[in-house]
Amino acid sequence: MISKKMQEAINAQINAEMWSAYLYLAMSMDATDKGLKGVAHWFRKQYDEEMQHAFKFVGYLGEQLAKVELKPIAEVPTTWCCAKKMFEETLEHEKKVTAMIHALCDLAAEEKDYATANMLQWYVNEQVEEEASAQEILEALEFVGEDKAAFYMFDKGLAAR
Ligand code: FEO
Repeated sequence: MISKKMQEAINAQINAEMWSAYLYLAMSMDATDKGLKGVAHWFRKQYDEEMQHAFKFVGYLGEQLAKVELKPIAEVPTTWCCAKKMFEETLEHEKKVTAMIHALCDLAAEEKDYATANMLQWYVNEQVEEEASAQEILEALEFVGEDKAAFYMFDKGLAAR
């Protein structure tokens, strides 16, 4: 069994993961509206990943016989000026999620909750990847600059995700 405090903290994280999913789905839809097929595809995949993150926590609460409480999901923005802005916001958001996961790790350590600490290691590693992929895309966009042909190739590359 996990503590009530840990149960509540994981429920809050489920909400945060679902908010992330909602954010990336909004980015995908805005990219579709802008004709950026590859960017739209990349964010649709990112939406799927975030839902998997949420469901992995749901599964863990189930294993621990702890109640899942789904709270309302806050509104997300609906438009961005360009792909660069979307990925900048993605990187900033993922840094915040990393801090949330680390706070859960701190709580698990404080409570000597070894099972949760062990489960959270997957998320710690996942966050390293999440930040790295957003960072890599931003670096690629720096090379692209204002070059329309290069942006076309960049967008095509994202469609391969
Ligand atoms: Fe679920 Fe992108 O962190």
